[in-house]
Amino acid sequence: MMTTEEAQRQETYIKQIRMQNDLEKSKTSKQKHYYIATFGCQMNAHDSEKLAGMLEQMGYQKTDQENEADFILYNTCCVRENAEQKVYGKLGYLKYLKDMNKDLIIAICGCMMQQDTVLNIIKSKYPHVDIIFGTFNIYKLPELLQTYLETKETVIDIWNEHKDIVEDLPSIRKYKFKASVNIMYGCNNFCTYCIVPYVRGRERSRQPEDILNEIKELVADGVKEIMLLGQNVNSYGKTLKDGISFAQLLRKVNEIEGLKRIRFMTSHPKDLSDELILAMRDCDKVCKSLHLPFQAGSTEILKKMNRKYTKEQYLELAEKIQNTIPDIALTTDIIVGFPGENEEDFQDTLDVVRKVRFSGAYTFIYSKRTGTPAATMEGEVPEEICQRRFNELQEVLQPIVYEKSQEFYGKTVEILVEEKSKNKDSYLTGRTDSGHLVHFEGDTSLIGQFVNVEIIEAKTYYLIGKLAN
Ligand code: 5AD
Ligand code: SF4
Repeated sequence: MMTTEEAQRQETYIKQIRMQNDLEKSKTSKQKHYYIATFGCQMNAHDSEKLAGMLEQMGYQKTDQENEADFILYNTCCVRENAEQKVYGKLGYLKYLKDMNKDLIIAICGCMMQQDTVLNIIKSKYPHVDIIFGTFNIYKLPELLQTYLETKETVIDIWNEHKDIVEDLPSIRKYKFKASVNIMYGCNNFCTYCIVPYVRGRERSRQPEDILNEIKELVADGVKEIMLLGQNVNSYGKTLKDGISFAQLLRKVNEIEGLKRIRFMTSHPKDLSDELILAMRDCDKVCKSLHLPFQAGSTEILKKMNRKYTKEQYLELAEKIQNTIPDIALTTDIIVGFPGENEEDFQDTLDVVRKVRFSGAYTFIYSKRTGTPAATMEGEVPEEICQRRFNELQEVLQPIVYEKSQEFYGKTVEILVEEKSKNKDSYLTGRTDSGHLVHFEGDTSLIGQFVNVEIIEAKTYYLIGKLAN
């Protein structure tokens, strides 16, 4: 738990900044705005919701126009190199904005900041960044901002490990009817390609009561669907003294009245227990979808990745899940071009894709991350080969995803309507229990409701439906 003392300390800074902002507004009649750019995973997206919550309490209003903002925050990701490149690219533009507006405050936080090399680059090449913090202390934003306002000097606060788990942060949700809830932080798995354990620290679980209370409050506030978040949710509770398992937690969450849907991510195959499969089968609110990254098909490569399962074990697990929960939609993450991956290894990856028949997959070309064990492994795969394998993987994957999508054709399914369609006027977008996107024609008053739609067209990445009675 966050100590009450610490919570109160931040509360004082929030009030101070709010007062200054209110005072300025009364003089200039100008409202201050914040802009947040979030890179990376759902964990980061959720952190950004908390950061937005604090900023709103401090009297800032959200804007989607970066050039109109008085406070710009980049919440960064470092899982792959291109995520980092994007941030560096944008920092140049921020310099231009700062030149135009000397009062603009620029802050940067998140996973990238937890790496010394990145920090040094930001300090030396991007001196227009005013506030820098990491992943372990986002709740300190009010204090860091106040320090900056007082000193007008760059404020840097990066911790190497977590201290308290912060409870009860205000949060601004993107949707009124769905929300994410952290159940654990960090990761102990040390997959050899992955930088997450170094920038997000060791695994620690929140107390079940804190999680359940947070969900109950969200439900009271109109939330119907929740996403339980953790780097490896299957090992939830292992670091708690009288901890419960993830399966037990799911059963408890399932009992919360008024809640309609439960999702969770990410699952590590090595920790996915029979107990969890049964809980998923039994709990009516738990969605029939499971994200189960396999990363690579070859047992040899899996070993080098430190994934702690073989190709056969993954296939058996997937089959067991599909047999126990027949209508489950399995999705996955796949990396091609890990050091030492040869043609035969790659064929194993394709073989897993063909056998499991995933409903969707995130596919990546291996990206070397300094500081991880894989970065110094032999057998780097040339870029052209990576690209060829990546393309080949798409060629095998896409028809399967398309066929899985076709299974919905002609069926009537319940969806939670999320928003107006981005592509087509008068269309709305919702999601099935299995996580499939459905576009259909309907009135915006349906947003946030569950409706039945008949699927009249099935594409690879989305379905088209029409409202059913
Ligand atoms: N290179 C490529 N992909 C990576 N991932 C994690 N680290 C790397 C890396 N160094 C992928 C994994 C993980 C997903 C979130 O990102 O597939 O499951
Ligand atoms: Fe990274 Fe592996 Fe942990 Fe996932 S389980 S965050 S891939 S180290």
